Amino acid sequence: MSITVQINPARRIGQRSPLLYGHFIEHFHRQIYDGIYQPGHPLSDEDGFRTDILDAMRRIKVPIMRWPGGCFVSAYHWKDAVGPNRNPMFDKAWRVEDPNTFGTDEFVKMCRKIGCEPYICTNAGTGTAEEMSDWVEYCNLDTEGKFAKWRIANGFETPHNVKYWSIGNENYGFWEIGAKTTEEWGVLVRESAKMMRHVDPTAELSAAALSDPSWNLNLLKLCGENLDWISIHEYWDMMPEVNAPSAYEQCMAFTDRIDHSVHEVRGMLAALKLDGRIKIAFDEWNLRSWHHPNVHTIRQGVGKESYVTPRDKNDDNSTYTMADAVFTACFLNAMHRHCDIVGMANFAPILNTRGCIYSHDKGIVLRSTYHVFDLFVNHLGDTVVDLWPETALPTMTVRHKQGHSVTIDSLDLLATTYSDKPGMAVAAVNKEPDKTHTITLPLGGKTQVILHTINGENKDSYNDVDLDGVRTAKTDLGVHESAAEIALEPHSVNLIELIPVED
Ligand code: AHR
Repeated sequence: MSITVQINPARRIGQRSPLLYGHFIEHFHRQIYDGIYQPGHPLSDEDGFRTDILDAMRRIKVPIMRWPGGCFVSAYHWKDAVGPNRNPMFDKAWRVEDPNTFGTDEFVKMCRKIGCEPYICTNAGTGTAEEMSDWVEYCNLDTEGKFAKWRIANGFETPHNVKYWSIGNENYGFWEIGAKTTEEWGVLVRESAKMMRHVDPTAELSAAALSDPSWNLNLLKLCGENLDWISIHEYWDMMPEVNAPSAYEQCMAFTDRIDHSVHEVRGMLAALKLDGRIKIAFDEWNLRSWHHPNVHTIRQGVGKESYVTPRDKNDDNSTYTMADAVFTACFLNAMHRHCDIVGMANFAPILNTRGCIYSHDKGIVLRSTYHVFDLFVNHLGDTVVDLWPETALPTMTVRHKQGHSVTIDSLDLLATTYSDKPGMAVAAVNKEPDKTHTITLPLGGKTQVILHTINGENKDSYNDVDLDGVRTAKTDLGVHESAAEIALEPHSVNLIELIPVED
């Protein structure tokens, strides 16, 4: 039985920012070194960037890239990584040496090659307000002061014009170097924002936050009027210590209330009357956390082999399945529905680790999640409009990782229009592991219907060096007049283009 879906393109929910399709790259494992930045590699350009990876990033129109961390940043000093004399540092967050050959100038150069906005997360762990504002001087002042002059001496005459800055990363967490108390945090953010804005009044500032009121309230009371963004992070399938990816059905349980953090922060901002001016930057999100055991511990006797080697398990491409793709589509749909207050989201990370692109010495693998970005960025509209099913959506009951059962909608549907052309695009996700569902879309006249489907033979399909287990199929369903009935395969991500046909 087909589910009839109504769409009212006149009822606009909002215009989504392209920054919803943002990404994050950190100095961790093979994201930067032996990742995007490999000077001298046969596939690298004259600046040392892997051209195959840059091409893949350009194809999904990466709009903004957050860097350099993540936990890494909370003991990072940017001045060690600019200029001709780079000294290696011991990265106290991830407990490995960082050569510092990739720094601010290389990051901005990479962003210009990709065509994305650079977004710098500053060190609010061991760093200071002065160090943060010096960084803004280096990047954004023309010639005034020693740091702008230093940038010029390093070969960058014109300012880098870094517009987006975050004060700190997860400074609320015991695992973060230089973790702060709630009281300390509000004062540090206020003083940092003050100095950063005194350097560049146009800078857009965010601060590390939570959906937890006790952390945010002091921050927002002391500094709310100086912030443009509030940063939140979420990973659902937590695997930092034990590399045990949840099975497909358990991952579908994670889609239940996938936007709970947004609701909580939205409520807090509204209560403080800040929801008109502060937007949410969901600037780290992914279904699954990164695997990095034994690193966030101060236990004695923990050997290097117990916390460095296991990171290679993130490179197991078989753990990037249709569960990752289905979850990613549901998350992006949810952020579109909240596009009035969620202005940015950053997939964590873009490359290697749990990224949507995997790189190896001879090339890259586009993991299942990459195809969701490729499909949504290149075919979904920028205006979210109202959609509702005429009858209740089918549901499925799945067991959560914590053991309880949860009943969720089997389908996740989002309707969009385009601000620059006629027509509509509907994102339709079928979470069922083995059941096809059919939807009927009423049409207002002659319409060409194109169906794009991301899927594999089964729910655990994946892509690897010599395996194309997950593909995007495009099917022209022809011209329809009054309605179009579309079958949504099990465990699939679909995008339906509705293109008006002139008589
Ligand atoms: O697992 C990676 C870490 O997750 C990031 O460095 C940090 O921001 C988050 O806790």
